[in-house]
Amino acid sequence: MPAVLITGAQWGDEGKGRATDLLGSRVDYVVKFNGGNNAGHTVVVGEEKYALHLLPSGILTPGVVPVIGNGVVIDLGVLKQELDALSSRGVDVSKLKVSANAHVITAYHRTLDKVTERFLGKRQIGTTGRGIGPAYADKINRVGIRIQDIFDESILQQKVEAALEFKNQVLVKIYNRRAISPEEVTEDLLSFREMLEPMVCDTGLLLHEAMQQDQTILFEAGQATMLDIDHGTYPFVTSSNATAGGASTGSGLPPHQLDRVISVVKAYTTRVGAGPFPTELFDESGEHLARVGHEYGTTTGRPRRCGWYDAPIARYAARINGVTDFVLTKLDVLSGLETIPVCVAYDVNGVRHDEMPVNQSDFHHAKPIYEEFPGWSEDISGARSFADLPKNAQDYILALEAMSGSRISAIGVGPEREQVVVRHDLLG
Ligand code: GDP
Ligand code: IMO
Ligand code: MG
Repeated sequence: MPAVLITGAQWGDEGKGRATDLLGSRVDYVVKFNGGNNAGHTVVVGEEKYALHLLPSGILTPGVVPVIGNGVVIDLGVLKQELDALSSRGVDVSKLKVSANAHVITAYHRTLDKVTERFLGKRQIGTTGRGIGPAYADKINRVGIRIQDIFDESILQQKVEAALEFKNQVLVKIYNRRAISPEEVTEDLLSFREMLEPMVCDTGLLLHEAMQQDQTILFEAGQATMLDIDHGTYPFVTSSNATAGGASTGSGLPPHQLDRVISVVKAYTTRVGAGPFPTELFDESGEHLARVGHEYGTTTGRPRRCGWYDAPIARYAARINGVTDFVLTKLDVLSGLETIPVCVAYDVNGVRHDEMPVNQSDFHHAKPIYEEFPGWSEDISGARSFADLPKNAQDYILALEAMSGSRISAIGVGPEREQVVVRHDLLG
């Protein structure tokens, strides 16, 4: 089983980090291929709780080679902080490999992210403010700075100067901010050279060779299908491809080499930041989900918006990603609810849509059509097999499976490593 992908089916925070951890030592490489430190993955191992932003969660498994692919945008200060923090907790980070082609997030990207959001006012995206969008914009505009540039001081200087020539005009004249000195940015980037030296390589070649040696590679997406720049709820999305196609362009591994696509989906839905969300709740059921599910962002600490499970979204994720298996997380959070509504289709101005409407403005006006399922009152956090679950919980899972476009192979019944019910081996 050489190449496997883990993606998010909804708007992020489905438990991708946790799902990666589930595969643990059966994996040889874990590759992050998109996004940057806008991600936030919480992994609970025994008494220890880890919050990772830039590094792939696989770094927590001894023996695994973590890889940051070319599709990632890297804030080098954050990379250093995360590596230092993990090292001080005894995690071996020495195997990390970083693509020479990955782009860097600099001070001016972070500043531009914040000022453009402020400028947008009511129309703001609610970004994480980490400089992700501006860094990807520079990449596409062909004025980005890549990791390899840091190893050639004169090229780095020229590129930073060229980038800032225009940006400083924008910062000063439009946003009324101070100009950023190219020397400061260059010096800052150069200060990471020594740290980067042993990590930087042609990660595409590394992964190609790993495939030839029949090693198992796990691709771990940041963000999720509905936040994907092409397939998500544009413009309320992130700036990278978080779906299956991104694993190939963001790592250099050809698409046909991906054997299995696992999509992580919550037993309900959450979203951080602005944008349409048909099943969003504004009543005590939403408060129940937020409270019991501890729905606060790992990266920004913002409260997550909560709503019921949305089957058309899961089906859409199954189709766009070619999902072979779903991992359904946080089923335990639904315990104690009398009935559990599930969105099975949308009503858009009196017209029923069984699938995601192609037109964004229709999705903005989509009203969920619900089917109700009976809940259960038992604590399910101790369940380790499907048979351990109450009948109503089993029926809920089977109903979601029937309407979501792929089988549900594992079910999270609590945040801890062993709190999971496995129905089908995710690597077998
Ligand atoms: P990611 O960004 O997709 O990796 O997800 P996050 O880590 O941002 O958010 C998922 C949160 O849910 C984390 O705090 C996890 O510890 C927690 N979690 C994951 N699976 C389960 C589960 O099955 N039950 C419960 N109660 N919590 C879970
Ligand atoms: P993980 O990997 C949830 C959201 C932000 C905002 C939009 C754009 O933990 O699932 P950006 O800073 O990327 O330009 O913000 O995307 N967002 C996430 N929401 N989980 C994430 O990552 C997210 N990464 C970005 O809240 O709405
Ligand atoms: Mg997260």
